[in-house]
Amino acid sequence: MEPGGAEPPSKVFTFKDDQRSPPVCLSVSIPEVLDPHYGMYVWPCAVVLAQYLWTRRETLRGKKVLELGAGVSLPGVVAARCGAQVTLSDGAKTPLCLDNCRRSCEANGLLDVGVLSLTWGEVSPELLLLPELDIILGSDVFYEPQDFEDVLLTVAFLLRKNPQAQFWTTYQERSADWSIEALLHRWELSCVDVPLETFGADEAALAGSTLPGNHSVFMMVISTKT
Ligand SMILES: C[S@@+](CC[C@H](N)C(=O)[O-])C[C@H]1O[C@@H](n2cnc3c(N)ncnc32)[C@H](O)[C@@H]1O
Repeated sequence: MEPGGAEPPSKVFTFKDDQRSPPVCLSVSIPEVLDPHYGMYVWPCAVVLAQYLWTRRETLRGKKVLELGAGVSLPGVVAARCGAQVTLSDGAKTPLCLDNCRRSCEANGLLDVGVLSLTWGEVSPELLLLPELDIILGSDVFYEPQDFEDVLLTVAFLLRKNPQAQFWTTYQERSADWSIEALLHRWELSCVDVPLETFGADEAALAGSTLPGNHSVFMMVISTKT
């Protein structure tokens, strides 16, 4: 509840699988805050990553998942509702985003999701003390070129500690000049592009939301070079 008693407005996302008989679906409710800061509302990339998680839901059960730069945490919430053991994180300097992570968990009845501050590029006690991980999530974390290396430093650190883990990430192409290729090479990471059509995300509307629209969103899986 907000000071003054007003609940923040929520967006509902409904993921469906009509191929199943009977069809299955999952609805999650994500409170958003009317504030221009990046981590206060759902970004198009989050809907695409959440759709990927939904299509992989059977492999997620019991998996240890960490979301970086979670903001209002749509992907992490979907992973938790699909049975993963989820920890949500956002930057230490944006405590309001950490409040958003908690609020999104409460809105979906998730009582056992951890929330902690993890600032990209910082080797903090929180980072060092993280338990074993299977999957790291990052939706729209490559949006400021000056932060790209910090994101990958954190990811490379976690993947070295958990060599079987993968970083599942979606990004929005905002400039054709931006690339993480050289940084992937520097941090000895490999990357596989996952075409959106392979998981039903090549649509302007997903999960009942028109957020993806005509944005150029891409999905990739990053792992350590073998
Ligand atoms: C574009 S928003 C994406 C939010 C959410 N993942 C989504 O897709 O809806 C970027 C997120 O990264 C977080 N962030 C920005 N800089 C960060 C940093 N240096 N360390 C950790 N998180 C950071 C922001 O607070 C925000 O939640």
